[in-house]
Amino acid sequence: MEFENIIVTQKEKWAIITINRPSKLNALNKSTIEELHLAFKQLNELDSVKAIIITGSGDKAFVAGADISEFADFDTNEGAELARKGQKLLFDFVQNLSTPVIAAVNGFALGGGLELAMAAHFRVASTNAKMGLPEVSLGVIPGYGGTQRLTQLVGKGKSLEMIMTAGMIDADEAKSWGLINHVVSQEELLPFTEKMATKITRNSSTAIAAAIKAVNANSTDGVNGFEIEIEAFGNCFGTKDFVEGTTAFLEKRKPNFE
Ligand code: COA
Repeated sequence: MEFENIIVTQKEKWAIITINRPSKLNALNKSTIEELHLAFKQLNELDSVKAIIITGSGDKAFVAGADISEFADFDTNEGAELARKGQKLLFDFVQNLSTPVIAAVNGFALGGGLELAMAAHFRVASTNAKMGLPEVSLGVIPGYGGTQRLTQLVGKGKSLEMIMTAGMIDADEAKSWGLINHVVSQEELLPFTEKMATKITRNSSTAIAAAIKAVNANSTDGVNGFEIEIEAFGNCFGTKDFVEGTTAFLEKRKPNFE
């Protein structure tokens, strides 16, 4: 896959998407968002890709936010459209992808950058990472799902503190908040995240897709997550992976999922 603003690398059973605009601290402009949508979509359709890691190029930034130069002169309608389109193409799309997505946060994750990391299924950060939602310092609010996902991840008080102060927290603090799962050195960030991806790829990808759907139902208005879980659980019984997983257990061997 060839793109202008991102690099896609396929490894054994997983892929790494690297946002590659280091001179702009990997800020998300329109074309980067469109390319990311396409890359996630195409990788999700490949049976050979069972996990996706998203990271930023260089050692300074994961993503320093939406590209401010692109929206500085927008009016009310254009602003709403920017948020709506971005949420649909990238942030909701990633959250609801059936392939697991891990964010490897390698530096600044600000505004849309933190929102992208939060849309991923979970996050690992390097010790130099700094996270924040500085939008109110620009006279706007987070528009790519940040007010919702941060609140779901860390609770209302911490979420409003981060949003209202427009401040940044470091990786250890983010871990103590439950915003990220692990903190490792910069050198260890990709190897560690790839190890997690490897663990994931050994399991049933159809069951993992069902788990993502059921867990996401917990934060979807108007749906009963328990019902979604029952339905998804039942569907697993009709899959080849279920036959393989249970047979392998009874035969005292490791499962070999497709
Ligand atoms: N949008 C557009 N360009 C951005 C950007 C963004 N969100 N974040 C950084 N850049 C650009 C800078 O304009 C600069 O470009 P230039 O060299 O052409 O002037 C380049 O990236 C390097 O950034 P710089 O500010 O010089 O680096 P720094 O180390 O001094 O500061 C940050 C780093 C992250 C603190 C600072 O870049 C920043 O505050 N960025 C904006 C963060 C933000 O508000 N994001 C939310 C957007 S809604």
